[in-house]
Amino acid sequence: MRKKIVAGNWKLNKTYEEALSLVSEIENMVKDEVNGDVTVIVSPPFPYLQSVGKLVQGNSKMHLAAQNVSEHDSGAYTGEVSAAMLKSVGVEYVIIGHSERRLYHHEDAQTLYKKLKAAIANGMKPIFCCGEPLEERDAERHFEYVGKQLHDSLSYLSNEEFDQVVVAYEPIWAIGTGRTASSQQAQEMHEYIREQLSRMFDAAAAHNTSILYGGSCNPGNAQELFSQADVDGGLIGGASLKSRDFTDIIKSF
Ligand code: PGA
Repeated sequence: MRKKIVAGNWKLNKTYEEALSLVSEIENMVKDEVNGDVTVIVSPPFPYLQSVGKLVQGNSKMHLAAQNVSEHDSGAYTGEVSAAMLKSVGVEYVIIGHSERRLYHHEDAQTLYKKLKAAIANGMKPIFCCGEPLEERDAERHFEYVGKQLHDSLSYLSNEEFDQVVVAYEPIWAIGTGRTASSQQAQEMHEYIREQLSRMFDAAAAHNTSILYGGSCNPGNAQELFSQADVDGGLIGGASLKSRDFTDIIKSF
């Protein structure tokens, strides 16, 4: 069965001390308040991964993600971090294809495919992000746009490789804007994504894939979003930087 997942994407935020306080608070709240079967993921910036990982390793609900990974295994790629390096410090998940990386770092579909392969080959689970910009939504081309993103990066994976993938639908117009997709908009896109996945892979794999919603998800709207049939949790930006808000989102299933 597919997992319920709430993943916090810390982006370019927090100093080392702040990151350790945040994760300690989250870990305590999850231990004291979260009863259900939820996978909680935190993704701090690279330099804090190992320390944050140590603070969550005793909590079976909590897992560690990186925000990016190199498509290369090793070599002369200054500033890059490989999948094997991440794995060696205890990283279990890696966010791939976030719209901010597609936009600011020009990551194209083929690069994302290579990153997916590298992560999976090294025993990590990719959280593959997709989502349309506002002009595509306004032009009613959002389904085609997202379908193409899925096809262009995921369809070359084998069924076994795809089994490791979590998908996150993040409409760009909802990221960090305070404007959330309605639960109906989220559900219809998630259903469409699952249907596309069932064409690319076997139906059971598509059925078992967790599809997360991201984009201004907060304690006030999470319950409504997570109650949708094809919404299996959230990828949380801003609200993941506050332990109380993040925990309340986790408790929204
Ligand atoms: P947001 O970001 O929750 O701040 O909108 C979500 C994301 O970019 O993953």
